Amino acid sequence: MNSKLLGAVILLLTTLICPPALAQESASVDRSSTGGAQTLEDIMARQEQLKIDESFRSENLGNPDSAAPISESLGTLGGRSDADIWRSIRYNKIDPSIQSPGPANSVLIQDAGMPWYKLREGPLISYGGGALLAVIALLIIFYFVRGKIMIDGGPAGTTVERFKAIERFGHWLLAGSFIALAITGLITLMGRSFLIPVIGKEAFAPLANGSKWLHNNIAWAFMLGLVMTFCMWVVHNIPSKLDWQWLKAGGGIFTKSHPSARKFNAGQKIIFWTVMLLGLSVSLSGLSMLFPFEMPMFAKTFNVINSIFGTDLPTVLAPHEEMQYANIWHSIVAFAMMVAIIAHIYIGSVGMEGAFDAMGTGQVDREWARQHHDLWVAEVESKQDRGNSS
Ligand code: HEM
Repeated sequence: MNSKLLGAVILLLTTLICPPALAQESASVDRSSTGGAQTLEDIMARQEQLKIDESFRSENLGNPDSAAPISESLGTLGGRSDADIWRSIRYNKIDPSIQSPGPANSVLIQDAGMPWYKLREGPLISYGGGALLAVIALLIIFYFVRGKIMIDGGPAGTTVERFKAIERFGHWLLAGSFIALAITGLITLMGRSFLIPVIGKEAFAPLANGSKWLHNNIAWAFMLGLVMTFCMWVVHNIPSKLDWQWLKAGGGIFTKSHPSARKFNAGQKIIFWTVMLLGLSVSLSGLSMLFPFEMPMFAKTFNVINSIFGTDLPTVLAPHEEMQYANIWHSIVAFAMMVAIIAHIYIGSVGMEGAFDAMGTGQVDREWARQHHDLWVAEVESKQDRGNSS
């Protein structure tokens, strides 16, 4: 195992065995040797990210109002020393009005950055990347075990319209933007670890810059595609009893039977709702990052979750922590979507004979339609018959 991989595995195991939330509180420290100031033990505990009681520093901010201020001997600092002022900055006790203006100006130092960074560089990349590789491997195995799903008895040769031009436009807007977002998002998340060693920092810098620009701007096309497809297809994706039958028959994937379905079968409804719900969540967390500090949503969400499930999630978050949660959640949801979409792309292209035409030309073979969506094609044909007879 090379040393980088070994490092990643150790980091992952360390995070699993000793997650920050479970870190123990350090025992009370004797600070008499430093006259009450921090000791080497305090510094070491902080470096190990142990939860420590820092009130001996956070509450030791000088006393400008004392009866005997030491201003005379210390000049303009009054009852405060340099150390007091730096501690005030460290614990965000300094008057915000003297800092630079901005939505997060009341916090100068925020210390949840390191756990966020470690999570992003460690488990997020290894589990997320691992999930993508795993689904691709499973699909390759599936292809060799099951083979391409063919039209039994071959195509009929006549077609029926499955999706109108506007529906195909909505689908490809959503699909094209999602694929571009996935690629540019993966470059942003994993480029430092995987691309810099291969192409070097000079080449990676413009690539990262360009990816970020594209990612931020293509997001709007994705949201538009999401709204369009939701409006056009939601009526066909309402769960029904038929879906249960379809699922019990495993979609006929291994039995080679064809359970009944209307316009969308249960498998497609699962994809639809996965895309809509995760798409909404990825959009909201993305907007929260696109407008930094303007759309904090995690403290409020945690509050709701706590009141429903009795959990103990933090409900007071620094503006920066809000951004860190948005960033991690955005990536987790994006990975879940990518896993689902890779499977969707497989079945909509190489996995099933005749499926791609639905989104390619909009016309599908009548026999394909009868086998996969019998009730839908019957409805279309009876409408056509009624149209012809009137
Ligand atoms: C190259 C990539 C893609 C291909 C070849 C593809 C193909 C297809 C096809 C053929 C259908 C219609 C299936 C039918 O006739 O019943 C479909 C439907 C759909 N696609 Fe895609 N698609 C792709 C990418 C995407 C992406 C990236 C998304 C979303 C992020 C997406 C979301 C949907 C949804 C929600 C539906 C309706 C539900 C369903 O049929 O599962 N597609 N796609």
